[in-house]
Amino acid sequence: MLFSIFGATGDLTTKKLIPALYRLYEEDQMPEPFTILCIGRRAYDEQDFIREVRSKIEGQYPDWEAFSRGIHYYAMDFSDESQFAAFEFYVRSQNIPTFGDKIYYLATAPHYFPIIARALIANRLIQRGDMRSKIVFEKPFGEDLETAKAYNKLLLESIDESQVYRIDHYLGKEMLQNILTVRFANKIFESIWNHENIDHIKIIALESETVKQRGGYYDRSGALKDMVQNHLFQTLALVAMDSPMGLSDALIKNEKVKVLENIQISDEVIFGQYDGYLSEKDIPDDSKTETFVAIKAYINSQRWRNTPFYLMTGKKLSKKIAEIIVTFKDANCFFEKGQPVKNILKIEIFPREGIILQFNGKAPGLQAYTMPMKLDYCHMCNIIGNSPEAYEKLILDVIHDDASLFTRWDEIESAWRIIDSMSNIKRFEPLYIYKTEEELMKVVSEKWKLESVL
Ligand SMILES: NC(=O)c1ccc[n+]([C@@H]2O[C@H](COP(=O)([O-])OP(=O)(O)OC[C@H]3O[C@@H](n4cnc5c(N)ncnc54)[C@H](OP(=O)(O)O)[C@@H]3O)[C@@H](O)[C@H]2O)c1
Repeated sequence: MLFSIFGATGDLTTKKLIPALYRLYEEDQMPEPFTILCIGRRAYDEQDFIREVRSKIEGQYPDWEAFSRGIHYYAMDFSDESQFAAFEFYVRSQNIPTFGDKIYYLATAPHYFPIIARALIANRLIQRGDMRSKIVFEKPFGEDLETAKAYNKLLLESIDESQVYRIDHYLGKEMLQNILTVRFANKIFESIWNHENIDHIKIIALESETVKQRGGYYDRSGALKDMVQNHLFQTLALVAMDSPMGLSDALIKNEKVKVLENIQISDEVIFGQYDGYLSEKDIPDDSKTETFVAIKAYINSQRWRNTPFYLMTGKKLSKKIAEIIVTFKDANCFFEKGQPVKNILKIEIFPREGIILQFNGKAPGLQAYTMPMKLDYCHMCNIIGNSPEAYEKLILDVIHDDASLFTRWDEIESAWRIIDSMSNIKRFEPLYIYKTEEELMKVVSEKWKLESVL
């Protein structure tokens, strides 16, 4: 197998891709022989590159020596299409078995996607009909609806949809995969999963990190395009979709698309930028890019009539956390002692993977007081050995031609349509400069009229 990574000197490669490939190797899941071809602009000596990658990755790698013999470094400027003829010559010289997989992974900013894809096609490195050659795109696929459509057209003119993998690593996360099982395999949830019983749903993905060295990419993107268009909308689609007619990939995606096509954004949106963003590397002095966004949305469907969905994501906050919080309506309660709380179902995605259900019970003692209780299921505690990382699962799926956890074109198209439509709201809303999470959450809870946001 040839696994080529464009943008291999970047953050994603060292943080996620190389560790995921290593775990697959350790678990005997890598097709042998394999070449991991790391492509970057800088003129590295191959061994220096491998040493640098190793110094940056965390964790135990007892078989690194043997694994890293499969890593090669190739220096090129992939914005220059004329350099791909030499690249093609180099790839051919690697003697990849004819029936071996040839996977091209674009771990780059989206504006490079059409340049690299066009050059790979022109140089016959990926060809229609050669089902062993595949191309993987990092998110976001495109910079807006227009560019996404253009990239897609370019691809499908020359190769088949089944050779194209648009990655959204959230879909590879254990708890995202768990949403449909919890919803549809349990009578107790599915029968009350609607506007009559649910008060509101929050989908939250916060990060403590700043943009670090990725300012050049991030400033063109912002929180809306970097997180909401893909991770948060995909999560929303899984949480809100109707029951599919069957469990096939196509039927599930059909239902997800119906949700995405029917999202209606309210004008109660908050955009924020962390204090100090303008001093980060590669950020223009007058940048208005949002590093935080909080959205109130509705879904036009019978199931979700008037039910608010709150989506919130941002950088430089107090902690890294991702969770879905489903808050149910008040029970018609006749207990007078002790204030019954609302039922809450919390699906924890990160850092803990688990599910917590809050309900009311009787306090111990002679009196009939109600008090809140919790059922707490820790998913990650029940996995024996290493819990597979999202990228590990998704790379293995590409090797096995399984696109079920990748986004289909119409999901991306619908998501971009909403993000594009938000540019007007963005133009008129103030950009809130935040120093602490506390002050920011105060602004959000006042705007949304929610007692607690987190
Ligand atoms: N980082 C993450 O955790 C993460 C998570 C999920 C998704 N993603 C997605 O993955 C993609 C890449 O993210 P990243 O964080 O790895 O970005 P990054 O750190 O900016 O890396 C991109 C790499 O591409 C190289 N590059 C840029 N232009 C080039 C050119 N013309 N020729 C050759 N190499 C060139 C850069 O090399 P130089 O150093 O020489 O400029 C840089 O090392 C983005 O679409 C992002 O949304 C990232």
